[in-house]
Amino acid sequence: MINFNIPPYVGEEIQYMQEAINNKKICGDGPFTKRCDRWIEENTGTQKALLTTSCTQALEMAALLADIKEGDEVIIPSYTFVSTANAFVLRGAKLVFVDIRPDTLNMDEKQIESAITPKTKAIVPVHYAGVACEMDTLMNIAKNYDLLVIEDAAQGVMAEYKGRALGSMGDFGCYSFHETKNYSMGEGGAILIRDQKYAEEAEIIREKGTDRSRFLRGQVDKYTWVSKGSSYLPSDLNAAYLFAQLEQAKQINEARRARWRQYYEELEGLQKNGCLKLPTVPEECRHNAHMFYIKTKDSDERKKLIEHLKQNEIAAVFHYIPLHSSPAGKIYGVFHGKDQYTTKESERLLRLPMYYGLEEKQVYYITEKIKEFYRAV
Ligand SMILES: Cc1ncc(COP(=O)(O)O)c(C=O)c1O
Repeated sequence: MINFNIPPYVGEEIQYMQEAINNKKICGDGPFTKRCDRWIEENTGTQKALLTTSCTQALEMAALLADIKEGDEVIIPSYTFVSTANAFVLRGAKLVFVDIRPDTLNMDEKQIESAITPKTKAIVPVHYAGVACEMDTLMNIAKNYDLLVIEDAAQGVMAEYKGRALGSMGDFGCYSFHETKNYSMGEGGAILIRDQKYAEEAEIIREKGTDRSRFLRGQVDKYTWVSKGSSYLPSDLNAAYLFAQLEQAKQINEARRARWRQYYEELEGLQKNGCLKLPTVPEECRHNAHMFYIKTKDSDERKKLIEHLKQNEIAAVFHYIPLHSSPAGKIYGVFHGKDQYTTKESERLLRLPMYYGLEEKQVYYITEKIKEFYRAV
């Protein structure tokens, strides 16, 4: 069976975890957590990065830092993971869903302005498949209306927009290091903070509302409860695991991109024949090969293709069910404007196996089986 995903593993993880054990420091904010934080800061240009236990929790931290309150409105795409929505619903916000673009499946920047009301507090772009949203347009709108931007860059580590790292452009950016992502610690994430003015508040929120971070730096001689917060910091054991992969981020990225290009080249003929649609990467975006998807004619064809691949021992899966049509989405949100593409495109999308270590011959085999399917259609 060709798995849909295999968590990344480079080999040094065990050694670093052993080092963390030898350090007698496996709680949060130990040496490996600090090294991961620095790595993110140096590689993205963000002012402050803090590892979290998931991207879900990084988004929750961002909602707290943005001071989202009951009755505030937040503009998000409906085509996303539940955590993008929950973070704001937990603070009492109303979700305003906008349609996606059919080419990138990202929030359509042209739909944002008309969705803004006096209650709007933030825009939450999701960089689907590690391909950036149209950030210049989006940031300009945010500036004109004095709105915060929280980037859900769960899938966007090592991807860029006009040379800038995803997650580093908005006020806050959120990464995921879940086992399905390009770099992993099992469960994990990070919050990126563009402006140093939020850094101390973020440290406090992440450390149960205490000033433990200041204490660890020797700035206070005991730590105490100073504000609201929760526990958002991971164990240094997990950070050690992640750091081994961050050190080899370029190599992992290039290996994934090579398989992505191979998929594209092998399937281009089917796109030319009008059988399927391949992903679009706008010129200003450098993607990280987080995902390789194709779009079939409709959901019926997708179902048959999934079955055909399964019979040939290949795991291919679809993705999000649009949030606005889910039970909770109907309670907590409204769709602004017309759902021209969200539902339609989500029903066509099929993700093919993609992971670090996927072999060239496996991609040939997978694409051969897809060609075989379309020869018979
Ligand atoms: C767009 C998006 N946001 C948030 C998340 C949540 O990430 P985590 O599992 O690290 O909480 C995911 C997970 O797949 C995601 O795809």
